[in-house]
Amino acid sequence: MSIVFDSERRTITLNTRQTSYQMKLSETGYLLHLYYGAGIEGDMSYLYEPADVGFSPNPVSKRLDRRWSLDILPQEYSSGNTGDYRLNALSCVNAAGVWGADLRYQSHSVRPGKYAVEGMPAAFDKGSECETLSVILADVSAGVEVELLYGVFEEKDVITRAVRIRNTGEGALRLEKAASACLDLPYGDWELLHFHGRHAMERIPERVPLLTGIETVSSRRGASSHQQNPFVVLCRPDTTEQAGECLGLMPVYSGSHRADIERDQMGSVRAVMGIHDEQFSWTLLPGESFSTPEVLMSFCADGLGALSRRYHRFLRHNVCRSRWTFRRRPVLLNNWEATYFGFTSEKLLNIAREAKELGVELFVLDDGWFGERCDDNRALGDWAVNEEKLPGGLNPLIEQIEAMGLKFGLWIEPEMVSEDSELYRAHPDWALTVPGRSPAMGRNQLVLDLGRKEVEDFLFETFSSLLSGHRISYIKWDANRHITDVYSRALPPERQGEALHRYMLGLYSLLERLTTAFPEVLFEGCAGGGGRFDAGMLAWFPQIWCSDDTDPIERLTIQRGTSYGYPVAAVGSHVSASPNHQDGRQTPFGTRGLVAMSGTFGYELDPGKLSGEEKEQIRAQIALFSELYELIQNGEYYRLEEEKHGPSFSAWEFVAPDKAEALLCLVVTHPESNPAPLHLRWQGLDENASYRVWRREFFGCALPIPSDTPELADERPTLSGSALLHAGYTLPRMYGDYPSVLVHLKKA
Ligand code: GLA
Repeated sequence: MSIVFDSERRTITLNTRQTSYQMKLSETGYLLHLYYGAGIEGDMSYLYEPADVGFSPNPVSKRLDRRWSLDILPQEYSSGNTGDYRLNALSCVNAAGVWGADLRYQSHSVRPGKYAVEGMPAAFDKGSECETLSVILADVSAGVEVELLYGVFEEKDVITRAVRIRNTGEGALRLEKAASACLDLPYGDWELLHFHGRHAMERIPERVPLLTGIETVSSRRGASSHQQNPFVVLCRPDTTEQAGECLGLMPVYSGSHRADIERDQMGSVRAVMGIHDEQFSWTLLPGESFSTPEVLMSFCADGLGALSRRYHRFLRHNVCRSRWTFRRRPVLLNNWEATYFGFTSEKLLNIAREAKELGVELFVLDDGWFGERCDDNRALGDWAVNEEKLPGGLNPLIEQIEAMGLKFGLWIEPEMVSEDSELYRAHPDWALTVPGRSPAMGRNQLVLDLGRKEVEDFLFETFSSLLSGHRISYIKWDANRHITDVYSRALPPERQGEALHRYMLGLYSLLERLTTAFPEVLFEGCAGGGGRFDAGMLAWFPQIWCSDDTDPIERLTIQRGTSYGYPVAAVGSHVSASPNHQDGRQTPFGTRGLVAMSGTFGYELDPGKLSGEEKEQIRAQIALFSELYELIQNGEYYRLEEEKHGPSFSAWEFVAPDKAEALLCLVVTHPESNPAPLHLRWQGLDENASYRVWRREFFGCALPIPSDTPELADERPTLSGSALLHAGYTLPRMYGDYPSVLVHLKKA
């Protein structure tokens, strides 16, 4: 039983394999939060010594015993205007103008299985993995009922939370903020680790101490964004990759989001996470309810690496719905950086032919195949094939590509419209723009109002006929701007605050319909690279283009940052040309391959422009990737402690679930004339086993170091798992620009 109600002590405890979470129905009727951390037993109330704290109000039943205050005690879900001055989770106004809700416990129930979140992606139970706790709180006189939902995945050490708010009053209830989770951490020092960035440099980790006041991680962009990813980790100051306490909070949401972390007058920490409350309001008529997105919480006492691996497993097993999640994905070649908009079918076929010869399995036609799309200023919305570029439409091209033995994939950007398009001329009101104001442009395009059912239906019809009329095996779903000018012509003035969230609900509904209708199509998400890399999108897209930056050296930072929350199998990553098109850097072909292999792996270049030697390298890379596929995609991922070594290299590792093999990848990022030894300690190996170095392959070294092939492996000594873990492993010096190495161990 993962959810335990102790009726005598009035505690509800959620237990997972290694963690406990406890709340208490207090004598005042408020639902207190007592604890979240490593597994414990007993009633944690003893932690909260009553104390009279000046200027922290007391509920009326405690007016003569001033040692009880909502402002001090940890809460499960707090609303304002009732004596808790910290961050609130719910802000609402009822028809009488009463602001806030005085939420008191009403009832609770426990049931097997996982609750669903209406209209939104959420974690699912694969069969007896989860128990659901529902707690009803209410402010009867204000007409507000709140259902707190908890999904306890005992074996996975994950607790999910979502909230349903119901109007039980007689007039309208306006929500101005409806967070998904409020989590109080009353004791201890915490730091905040979050993932900020920008276009072409997403998810850079930043770790900051929590000072008194509020830290906010948020996006108001109508997308989870390149700028601040919706994932935060609270950790102790001494927490490292391999040890220490940390706690992740990740919303299953792709729109504007917000996480606030407050350290209050007593040093207590409160984290509140959910939909961004700016440009948000929601009107509930009597009897109506509103569901918040879900948040995935996990507490881990074994360091950041272990926390990441938990999220990797959980997202793949319990959030990603695609049939492709665990299937072997094809090695693709995408024509974007090969041709941009300047292609003809002949050019595409030449690229595809070369690609097939080298071992590529899927050819992807990117932007520019439709309408008058000769550049990125026009034609979004006109999803009819441009027959000047592709005579006879897509089918003749697809037939020839399939005849070569390749699958065919296509780029689309459904959510957007160009002003210069047939669609915009026919339906200008379908775009999000403010009446009487010229809209801000992003890539010279506008965003369709997906909150409107007719827009969603139009997109469903358009793309389902595209998919049913052509043999398309893969779709790259792009979204190349953020939302401004939020104003829906389908909503009355008092409901304009609903437009952004209705957009997300429309998008989720469209994705659900299309992926259900075409379950065999592999969908890859994209939003100008990794501008919507989040748990919500992963529900439909088992892979997401990680960044528009394909420079392997910058990718080391981007992919490493992404790995804190998201699995390698979801990271879209390609080998592109050198000099790199984004930053002009020149890198060895082999290093580009090694970095791209720590993702879904593919190419984004014109193989016709490569030398014979480079083409041979593609053949070898694809063969190597196929051999290592299982280990990389389904193995456990470890970030090695690169920060200890200064900035000279980046290294990471994969370990098979049964620890029978492991793979170390290392890229030298700063060549040095007289470098310190390249020494690392492996992680995750079987301490009691012996390992043989099965293969060591060096890429791009200026002075050649012979690579060791598997045939030579028998001649090399075996090393004990304990030695590799504790004493470590030393590599030869590698000279040149960005050389790299891959070391494959197998149990002897
Ligand atoms: C975005 C994507 C790129 C490419 C272009 C096409 O920027 O991230 O990979 O598809 O759009 O316009």
